[in-house]
Amino acid sequence: MTFKTLMVLLLVTMAVATESPAIEKLRNKLDQNEYNSQLVDLLELSLAGGQLDRVFELLQKMVDDLTGQINAANLDHASRMAAFESSIEQLEANLATLSSEVQTNNRKIGDITQAISTLTSTSVAVKKQLETINQREEQIRDNRQREIQVLETKQSAGSRILAALEDIHDRLVKAVLSNTGSFLEEAEKKEMIKQVKKELGRTHPLALLLEFSSKFDEATAKRAIELIEQIIASIKEGEVNRESNQTAVEENFNSLVNEVTVVRDKLQQDNQKTTSALKNRQNDLKITQRRNKQLEQNEATTQQLLETTRVQKDLYDSNFRSNASKREGQLNSLKTALQILRDNEQALKK
Ligand SMILES: *[C@@H]1O[C@H](CO)[C@@H](O)[C@H](O)[C@H]1NC(C)=O
Ligand SMILES: *[C@@H]1O[C@H](CO)[C@@H](O)[C@H](O)[C@H]1NC(C)=O
Repeated sequence: MTFKTLMVLLLVTMAVATESPAIEKLRNKLDQNEYNSQLVDLLELSLAGGQLDRVFELLQKMVDDLTGQINAANLDHASRMAAFESSIEQLEANLATLSSEVQTNNRKIGDITQAISTLTSTSVAVKKQLETINQREEQIRDNRQREIQVLETKQSAGSRILAALEDIHDRLVKAVLSNTGSFLEEAEKKEMIKQVKKELGRTHPLALLLEFSSKFDEATAKRAIELIEQIIASIKEGEVNRESNQTAVEENFNSLVNEVTVVRDKLQQDNQKTTSALKNRQNDLKITQRRNKQLEQNEATTQQLLETTRVQKDLYDSNFRSNASKREGQLNSLKTALQILRDNEQALKK
């Protein structure tokens, strides 16, 4: 705008120019560039028009305008740089927070992984214990089944012996009571001995008594009856004992089964607890890993933004410096022109 005013001034007062010493001095003093050569040309033409005061006034106005621009630009630069700094500080703080969160999460992932590994071994151990306790119960029940079978076999053998002995006993008693001279027939005697051997064994005292008595007389029969009654009593006593023993055995079996059941219930609870804890921890792990992935993405984005902002700041600053040095150069040219014209004011007025 100031150049335009100078231009008008110059067109109105156009005159034949003769290069004055002041202009020559100025041309030598200033660097050679487009701005300076235009400035000198315009000053020369304006001076030729003879309005020296107006030229001073305009030059001073140009100096003031440019100084104003420089101050405004410096202020703007300071505030833009402060804004860049504050963005960078904010981004750096965000980055530090993100990075510490990632670290915390990584530690958490480590802890959870450790817990999962512990829970997994616990779970394996509990399952194995459950398997063992189930096998134990099966074994207890099998044993009991076998015992019952043995008992039944014994009982049926006992009843058979008892029936045979009672039969022999009855026949002997009848023979003694009838008291017939011939006493027992040989055939009956043989059959009796055969039965006793079969049920009680060939060397049983009763078998021996019957087989080897020189004569099977009444006295022998009475002794045999006595012996048979003793054996019957002892078999019956044995059965009673067995029955009461069975009650104890049954109670023992029931308490073993109860113990196993209590242990199994506890193990099943443990197993459930462990399984559900394991599920929870695995879920925690998934959530934490997902969160960490997100945090790492945010970290990368923030890092990128930080770098971009730094580059923008440097670019803006270097543009500003280049503009500033151009403006400083122009201001120096204007001030130099003003100084030289003032120094030569008297000569120029002529
Ligand atoms: C009672 O039972 C036990 C265990 O089954 C056995 O060892 C013992 O011989 C039994 N006693 C009698 C009198 O049957
Ligand atoms: C520098 O000057 C150019 C041209 O006048 C302008 O477009 C740009 O915005 C200026 N940059 C700064 C940082 O002052």
